Amino acid sequence: MASTQAAQVLVASNRGPVSYQVDEDGSLHARRGGGGLVSGLSAIGPDAGALWVCSALTDGDREAIRRGTGEPGVRMLDIPPPIHADAYNGIANSVLWFVHHMLYQTPLEPSFDADFRRQWSSYETYNRAFAEALAEEAAPHATAVVQDYHLTLVPGMLRALRPDLRIGHFSHTPWAPPEYFRLLPDDIAAQILHGMLGADRLGFLTHRWADAFKACCDAFTDGLGDTSIGVHGLGADADFLRDRAHQPDVADRMTTLRTEIGTAADGTPRRTIVRVDRTELSKNIVRGLHAYRHLLDTRPEWHDRVTHVAFAYPSRQDLAVYRDYTAEVERVARSINDAYGTPTWTPVVLHVEDDFARSLAAYRLADVALVNPIRDGMNLVAKEVPVVSDEGCALVLSREAGAYEELGEDAIVVNPYDVVQTAEALHTALTMPPAERADRAKRLAAAATALPPARWFLDQLNELKS
Ligand code: G6P
Repeated sequence: MASTQAAQVLVASNRGPVSYQVDEDGSLHARRGGGGLVSGLSAIGPDAGALWVCSALTDGDREAIRRGTGEPGVRMLDIPPPIHADAYNGIANSVLWFVHHMLYQTPLEPSFDADFRRQWSSYETYNRAFAEALAEEAAPHATAVVQDYHLTLVPGMLRALRPDLRIGHFSHTPWAPPEYFRLLPDDIAAQILHGMLGADRLGFLTHRWADAFKACCDAFTDGLGDTSIGVHGLGADADFLRDRAHQPDVADRMTTLRTEIGTAADGTPRRTIVRVDRTELSKNIVRGLHAYRHLLDTRPEWHDRVTHVAFAYPSRQDLAVYRDYTAEVERVARSINDAYGTPTWTPVVLHVEDDFARSLAAYRLADVALVNPIRDGMNLVAKEVPVVSDEGCALVLSREAGAYEELGEDAIVVNPYDVVQTAEALHTALTMPPAERADRAKRLAAAATALPPARWFLDQLNELKS
């Protein structure tokens, strides 16, 4: 699946824009993903000589490589599965994700032992595979933009192979402050920072994460050197979302959801608190459920009058800690329903099967959106719900989400660890006068769409080239 001509613009990320499944008849079935990079690359047009380098993640992906078929403009790397597992599950998702989201729970974690060192060497191998592929595919003086914590070593490795290139790196996660980043072994911390500083330009979603990165460089290296830093807050794609949210399959899901939400004993439709997340420790779903429970415990006026629609979609299920968290979310939701449910009222409607049309249906019906991550690079749900909701919903938002920098003024802001405060915020959101709610929702939607994905990507590209 190598491209036929040298690329002018290259993107590198672990997960690519397409993945393949082998169907029963042996044919390959492609599934295309969405997101900011996909919109960005399509915005530069098919003739721009763009190439996306990504990992083969499924058997279908590896089969597509073997058959030499596959999407033009995409090169999948067949990294040996054990190497990929060490790099992705071991280092990227169990170490770097935990550092940047400050998720470790001492005294048991972290512990950087021999196993960690073995995984780290796989992470180096995996990063090298990307750097070599980019070096091979890039036209002279081309631009390469490398994505995220999976690929922190690529900029430095690529710089050594191809000094002529313009190299960028973008972090979609938070960045840890030096006091937390220094949990990492000194040599590893230095390797990550030096790897990234191989880029001409580093991008972050907020000033807070960019400042934390600079502080880490000041603490552990000689500073940024010649590398510049840019802040690009990815926004929601309003045109796409509004169009998609008005397709017939979304209308069908709304009908089903309305039945699940139901009406109160006096016949009025129940108020709806919506959350949509990957089932991810940083999303703080369990504390969100505890807050809802506290609302019901302390404010009986809401019994039978509100439903919490919670979608928690499976993520990184190879890791036990994620599987355990999923089970905990289900257990707590069940305990609320056992405590307060009646034959006609299910207080928590929890769904765990991924369904984008149903997420949009919930966005449209939401009175309140609950977005309470412990820490989050941006959080696009916080930006998408105000754009899509029919009535203009109120937003309860964690101050630790990157989106807080842009939406903080019109959201009801919470400390994600404070369950009592979050419960009060839900009450405030549910009782907000309709005119105020609509005004705030309008401003939230405007702020949320200020930097749509295509512009977000093109701005980075232009700044990198200039
Ligand atoms: C979220 C994060 C990204 C990350 C992605 C990886 O979207 O914001 O920073 O790259 O997860 O998810 P995956 O399912 O590929 O592990």
